Amino acid sequence: MDKIVVLDFGSQYSHLICRRIREANVYCELLPYDTPAKVIREMNPKGIIFSGGPASVYAKGAPKPDKKLFEMGKPILGICYGHQVLVNNFGGSVRRQASREYGRAGLKIDDNSDLFKDLGTGINCWMSHGDAAEKLPEGFQVLAHTDNSSSAAIGNREKKFYGIQFHPEVVHTERGVQLLKNFAQEISGAKPEWDMQSFIETTVKEVREKVGKDHVLAAVSGGIDSTTVAALLNKAIGKQLSCVFINHGLLRQDEEKEVVKLFKDHLGINLIYVDAEKRFLARLKGVSDPEKKRKIIGDQFAKEFVTVAKKHGPFQWLAQGTLYPDVIESGVSKGPAAVIKTHHNVGGLPKWLKLKIIEPLRYLYKDEVRKVAGLLGVPDELLKRHPFPGPGLAVRVIGVLTPDKIRIAKQASKIVEDELKAAGFYDKVWQAYAAVGDDRAVGVLGDERVYGHVVMVRVVESIDAMTADWTRLPYDLLEKISNRITNEVDGATWVTYAVSSKPPATIEPQ
Ligand code: XMP
Repeated sequence: MDKIVVLDFGSQYSHLICRRIREANVYCELLPYDTPAKVIREMNPKGIIFSGGPASVYAKGAPKPDKKLFEMGKPILGICYGHQVLVNNFGGSVRRQASREYGRAGLKIDDNSDLFKDLGTGINCWMSHGDAAEKLPEGFQVLAHTDNSSSAAIGNREKKFYGIQFHPEVVHTERGVQLLKNFAQEISGAKPEWDMQSFIETTVKEVREKVGKDHVLAAVSGGIDSTTVAALLNKAIGKQLSCVFINHGLLRQDEEKEVVKLFKDHLGINLIYVDAEKRFLARLKGVSDPEKKRKIIGDQFAKEFVTVAKKHGPFQWLAQGTLYPDVIESGVSKGPAAVIKTHHNVGGLPKWLKLKIIEPLRYLYKDEVRKVAGLLGVPDELLKRHPFPGPGLAVRVIGVLTPDKIRIAKQASKIVEDELKAAGFYDKVWQAYAAVGDDRAVGVLGDERVYGHVVMVRVVESIDAMTADWTRLPYDLLEKISNRITNEVDGATWVTYAVSSKPPATIEPQ
């Protein structure tokens, strides 16, 4: 399949460039800036993009690409710092502008024959630094300018090298995807072959070849990633796949029933259901430290897994729902041979099981996984469901886990979710739940004084869970949630709303 390669010079937007190229239906991979030309030549990309980055091209030790890349005859697009790299390499010079441009700037297009094709005479673009090419490198001409920069975009048509000072990958640049599409499809000649239907077909074929007659074990949680892995593998190898769902007893209300129904009735996938609630809770008894809880849960997961593997095996492969950002995250710092993160649930599996790892989603971003899932018949309701932590309610019940606290967290969370759905807020927020700890407060139920539990409601908005803000829910919605919790959940007397953002707080209380 035709592809574009993005070399990452450290910009926070490098991933976005990759995603935008894929949005233009061209497959794209992100590699470290110093990937040797030999490696790139073997990948045979149609074009190469240099990302932005925080460095100055004149600084000592500034990151530079392998010089042989310029002799490969491949089109190159430099963005921001990548643009400076090009200018610098071909004998031009870059200078800090007297009046620096940050943020939105009006770009006037001087030549819209290739890179700016179909973009008219001007667009608003997003600048994030104040350098500009002062002396154009030889063979380059100006393609666009702004009020402060006479060379905001330059190109050398003969060599097909282009440099732009602004960021086409961010939404603030109008029709930036069109520019990236022009580079990928028009200038580099990459065929638009990347879409999720073709991904499914290719992956199914690859999995069949790789697995042969072997058997694959997949852990499923009912979440989007593991469900998609299961659906994809089921399509590829059917009965050679065994999915296992371990119920640790700390799930959302009725979740275990829903997962079993989803797999058996809706997706038609055979599921091994393990009711391990008693074993998990016995090991967690009296434990209040959050990290200890996580460790115990991870360890018990591994134990349950080994039992399943022995009973239903032998298996040669273990399926994991690793996504592209995880592959990149672990690969960039360690060079091009990507090291893969171990799944938190099954990371502790003993080596003697000798399971090889299969990761059918390792080239996908989350939004692409959602599309694949939809195409494979995963119901919409699951696609829209909030993320749920692997250790489940163990991190939402503060302090030791007791049957009462677990029940209160389950019932109150269900109320929070239901009310947000009814009010049209559920799809707009990142996560929403109720947590419970050991704080108690007096309430009056009928004529009786009850010393019950304080329930904490938490609703947050976030893009990637790295930062989050509490959602400004309408008072009447909060009132409804609070009333329902104190009326319907036995032992809950007070309701509080968590108004701490992340940072300094985290999304989960433990
Ligand atoms: P925090 O609480 O760190 O959570 O702000 C960030 C995101 O990660 C989820 N989370 C976990 N997920 N195992 C998981 O699989 C865990 O131990 C865990 N702890 C937090 C949390 O739900 C949020 O989306």
